[in-house]
Amino acid sequence: MEITFAKLKTPETGTIVFPIAESGKLSGKLKALDDSAKGAISKAIKVADYKGKKGKCLAMLCGGETVERIVLIGIGGGKKEDKEDALPAELEAQQLGGKLCVFLNRERVKEATLVIEQDIFSLKPDAAAAAIAQGVNLRSYRFDKYFTKQKEDDKPSFTKLNISLENIAGAKAQYTRYEAVASSVYLTRDLVSEPPNVLYPESYAAICKTLKNVGLKVEVLDEAAMEKLGMGSLLAVGHGSVNESQLVVMQWNGAPKTHKPLAFVGKGVTFDSGGISIKPSQGMEDMKYDMAGSAAVVGVMRALALRKAKVNAVGVIGLVENMPSGSATRPSDIVTSMSGQTVEILNTDAEGRLVLADALWYTQSRFKPQFMVNLATLTGAITIALGNHKAGLFSNNDMLAERLFKAGEMTGERLWRLPLGKEYDKQIDSKAADMQNISNAKGAGSITAAQFLQRFVNDVHWAHLDIAGMAWANKPLDLVPEGATAFGVRLLDKFVEEYYEK
Ligand code: BES
Ligand code: MN
Ligand code: ZN
Repeated sequence: MEITFAKLKTPETGTIVFPIAESGKLSGKLKALDDSAKGAISKAIKVADYKGKKGKCLAMLCGGETVERIVLIGIGGGKKEDKEDALPAELEAQQLGGKLCVFLNRERVKEATLVIEQDIFSLKPDAAAAAIAQGVNLRSYRFDKYFTKQKEDDKPSFTKLNISLENIAGAKAQYTRYEAVASSVYLTRDLVSEPPNVLYPESYAAICKTLKNVGLKVEVLDEAAMEKLGMGSLLAVGHGSVNESQLVVMQWNGAPKTHKPLAFVGKGVTFDSGGISIKPSQGMEDMKYDMAGSAAVVGVMRALALRKAKVNAVGVIGLVENMPSGSATRPSDIVTSMSGQTVEILNTDAEGRLVLADALWYTQSRFKPQFMVNLATLTGAITIALGNHKAGLFSNNDMLAERLFKAGEMTGERLWRLPLGKEYDKQIDSKAADMQNISNAKGAGSITAAQFLQRFVNDVHWAHLDIAGMAWANKPLDLVPEGATAFGVRLLDKFVEEYYEK
């Protein structure tokens, strides 16, 4: 999506978009156009019974040779919404952009000029312009590289948005900031969308290495290096695969050396067949996105580097493929983790926690971070609890949990906190080793998984985001086309900006 900003003037050609308040009067340039067309616009609004409800669009074909089409997009404002439903203005404006993008594609518009003369959702025109542009950009993502014969009609038509406003410098500055995040969201979505024959631990690590060009320091640990460190838990997951496991460490240093880093840790199972505890074939293809937590870590690290965030941050991702074979880990195998704790593996499909156990331990012992936040498509059970609307949040620290929660509300990547506790922790005590990787008792599957992770974090402030229900959208959303969502990238970027850069 190409986005440009230009000085406010009445556009004379092509498709022109005007925001319009609910049942409000026409004003500014729109009013001028209506006057010069002898009230044709007002008449069309009446005929269409168009009210300017938030996000609702109306297209009017003009038939002229200059202005071809006028599109109105409602910005609401009629009646006050319930407090509970009220979203932050920035998010509202982004979602408006998403809706506009969908509408213009449906109308087969190629290029449009959006005229912003007024405040929108209490945002000044420049902030509104940047946020709307961000929404358009996020919604227009496509993963279509594997189509060799795509019909022209199947391709989106809309590729260029010009925004016409007074303060172009303000809009441009804010949009540059947004663009760093959007392009990183695109990278995360690409990683999650790639099929597992293309994206496996080594090819994934190679892509991470290319991020050196945005200023990240990138190291890759291979199996030999991980064996030296004693990562028997992570390595057990990759044993059955012909693809070698990898651990990627990314560092962004945007603050003085004395500042402890923020740490982000991701589950990167490039394909989760379940291993010997194999999954049913129905739906197994979904398990290509079992690396979405790691991809979100890659995305946020890239965004921080690109926008030169004033923090030190480290991203650690454990990359493995979980496959059954003669060399695969068996149910009842006992392995020793880097922490020295032993784990009885009773179900090889509870592999994400085994990967994170060593990745978390490694991160805290090497970097002594301010906190660790890990992201993982960890349990199917989290979708039983929260559906596809919120990710599970677990934490040993109330302030960290509160900050993450708030960043979630701000970005619309929402979280809901679930409990940890001794009674759940006991459920993963083993009869043969320090712990087992599943609970024998039914219920609370997401909590016992989180409990397992907590055994590898000591006293470090830590939060675990279970994003299994959020990583893939089966239906499009305002800011997300169907498919990989990149859940976590915008959330963590906002979280860092709000609480650690100020
Ligand atoms: N990767 C899955 C969890 C998952 C399920 C992610 C659906 C995305 C969508 C995870 O490794 C897994 O298999 N978890 C098991 C745990 C069980 C064996 C204790 C599960 O959820 O069934
Ligand atoms: Mn699994
Ligand atoms: Zn998994």
